[in-house]
Amino acid sequence: MRKSVSKIGWENLVDTYAYSDWVPYKTDRFGRLYFERVNSLGKREKLGKVIDFSSAIGATSFGQSNWKLILAWVMQARKIMQINNSFMTKPTVELAQKLNNAVGHGYKTFFVNSGAEANENAVMAATYRENKVNFKKPRPYILTLSDSFHGRTGLMRYATGQSKFRDGLYLDVDKFKQVSVNKPIDEVLLSKTHAIMIEVIQGESGVNPVSKDFATYLKVVCEINDIIMIVDEVQTGIGRTGKMFGYQHYNLCPDIVTTAKGLGGGTPISAVTMNEKAREGIGPGKLGSTFGGNAANCAVANKVMDTLTPKFLDTVEYKGNLLGGQFQHFKRGDLIKDFSGVGMLWGLTLPDGVKASHVKNECLKEGLAVLTAGERLRIMPPLNTSKEAIYDGIDILEYVLRKECQK
Ligand SMILES: Cc1ncc(COP(=O)(O)O)c(C=O)c1O
Repeated sequence: MRKSVSKIGWENLVDTYAYSDWVPYKTDRFGRLYFERVNSLGKREKLGKVIDFSSAIGATSFGQSNWKLILAWVMQARKIMQINNSFMTKPTVELAQKLNNAVGHGYKTFFVNSGAEANENAVMAATYRENKVNFKKPRPYILTLSDSFHGRTGLMRYATGQSKFRDGLYLDVDKFKQVSVNKPIDEVLLSKTHAIMIEVIQGESGVNPVSKDFATYLKVVCEINDIIMIVDEVQTGIGRTGKMFGYQHYNLCPDIVTTAKGLGGGTPISAVTMNEKAREGIGPGKLGSTFGGNAANCAVANKVMDTLTPKFLDTVEYKGNLLGGQFQHFKRGDLIKDFSGVGMLWGLTLPDGVKASHVKNECLKEGLAVLTAGERLRIMPPLNTSKEAIYDGIDILEYVLRKECQK
């Protein structure tokens, strides 16, 4: 099958993903995806319509080709699409203001392009501060949690030959220490730590929420020890959990919040929103990005932010409760072993012997796109999915799980 798919270009891509031979080629106004495949005779074959419970892993949180977002992009692109960073554009400043207001008083935002970059810049901001505030004896470590995922960049500053891009940073990969989720942190380690970065719900490892007690413990630990708390909201932020940010379920007050994925509604943009304390070490030239704050992408993100009114977030919570109720029903019927999540972000543990990747493929054949995360099935419908589409998707999932459990 791979050979025939290669006719439409598969072999041009670096082989880093387990590419499906199902090729999405359009969407409709109900948000369904249309797929095709090149069959073994080399002919294009149309496959069924698919309900999307995957949202491009949270990026297309308002569907694949949302007209309001497209229009926002085009209208801005006709004026100014991208400009060098010595100039501000209206959509960029407006978006920063919206994010700052959503996080809290005194925050400011810096834009980059992807989740990993946002986290990297958050960590750099924390480290710049440490090296300025505690310059005599900077605390070296940044703590992250076991099973976390924060992205795949990080080394290019060290590849860069001009040392000015590293001055004042003294950051290297040995400075990251992983600590266990939901367990107290060693006091000696804490005394050598200047930042802690967490996801409140660990998306990539299976949609595992940290406990409320642990989140409160981290909050207190950061306050007492003057540690910068970075909350990675790349997957959980921008309405995904029924609140603007996942940390709002936990009553946290992070120094730095990173967002990406859903912020751009399908366009690449990410943001690092920081309070005054986190900005202490930042000045002109310390952080930078050519495309960061791209005017057209910011115009789309402004539309996304405008859509996330309290009333809209209530609908996400409501639909999330519908999903949660259905998963409870699955669990009672032994179709799944367990589930966790909130809003439009759920992880399902399947019965022994039922593989998530297999269920994902079977769902696609039956007309439902879902995701996996670790060993779990991950469900992330677009936030504006209709109630009817949710029920239709759940019916397909139930059908596939019943079939697999009976094997
Ligand atoms: C919590 C979290 N942080 C960071 C990232 C990395 O984002 P990106 O792939 O946009 O670099 C992801 C991606 O899945 C994520 O889920």
